[in-house]
Amino acid sequence: MTTRAARPFEVRQATRKDAETIAKMFQESWPIAWETAEKVRMQFDILDLAQGQVLVAAIGDKVVGHCEFIPSMEPPPYGNYGCVEVLEVHRGYRRMGIGTALVEQAMDICRKAGLERFETVPQDERSEALYAKVGMRTIERFLSLSLALREVPPVNGVVLKGELGLKERPWETMHHAIGHRFCASYPWSSAFHRKSVGLKGYENVFAHHIARRETEGVVFFDRAYLHIFVQPQEMMDEDVICAFFQYGAFQILKQKRASVYVNVPFALADVVRAVPGVFQSEGHFLYRMSTDL
Ligand SMILES: CC(C)(COP(=O)(O)OP(=O)(O)OC[C@H]1O[C@@H](n2cnc3c(N)ncnc32)[C@H](O)[C@@H]1OP(=O)(O)O)[C@@H](O)C(=O)NCCC(=O)NCCS
Repeated sequence: MTTRAARPFEVRQATRKDAETIAKMFQESWPIAWETAEKVRMQFDILDLAQGQVLVAAIGDKVVGHCEFIPSMEPPPYGNYGCVEVLEVHRGYRRMGIGTALVEQAMDICRKAGLERFETVPQDERSEALYAKVGMRTIERFLSLSLALREVPPVNGVVLKGELGLKERPWETMHHAIGHRFCASYPWSSAFHRKSVGLKGYENVFAHHIARRETEGVVFFDRAYLHIFVQPQEMMDEDVICAFFQYGAFQILKQKRASVYVNVPFALADVVRAVPGVFQSEGHFLYRMSTDL
């Protein structure tokens, strides 16, 4: 067990002044230096919009670990929880307890903020072991699918009620039925912020408030993943989810894009695969881990 007194590093809240050293950590850690201070600053902008926080582990002036987490307030069954979005420890400083210390501090902040649970989707067995060590357990299995779209027909009876953007927060009242991996505020803030600053590739991001008879929902395309929000009472309504998914797939195809990704609960995977004109090209399992705070 790591004790605070024995640590050769400190864990603290990051500020924008850390952007250079966070970028440096990524550049040193990965053979291909892909992170820049400018990109880290944009990430701070996105986390501000998503009300997320950044912690760093530092040895003197050197950043050796970095964790981004986001609080989310959603209707049941998800409720109020904090979610780890990014966790990275410098390659030269691993197995010293830095990852654990960052996650424990993030959990502590979420507990003090009154959140009920702490969650993440681990990237691989290493981080899964870390999250298990701090008490998190796998509570849901879902599928990440890559889908090819060909001649998806329009859906009868689904009408567009309006376009949504950065200021709307559909996850606070609706259920994030498809697309749930990290809390929805992150992909939403990230996609619409990047679109608003004119970043190439984000022109086609959209969120449509739609309705079919008295059923309402939101279809959101974040440039890669399709997300569907439905009324909580319709969270497992295959007919509604199928119609809304078909609407989204049709819109994406209209933009001349022939593929899309989805993260879908295992129980709903066949609903997505059954949409006409949608073909699965790849798929793998993801595991949601959680602990009560
Ligand atoms: C995963 C990662 C954050 C772990 O950071 P770390 O500071 O080395 O982790 P810790 O020292 O706190 O290790 C805690 C526990 O995690 C597990 N763990 C960490 N690295 C491991 C590895 N390479 N192999 C197996 N288990 C590992 C162990 O159970 C370890 O406890 P132990 O050292 O007592 O055996 C780091 O390897 C990393 O940055 N990886 C690349 C990015 C990544 O995968 N991020 C996670 C996204 S969800």
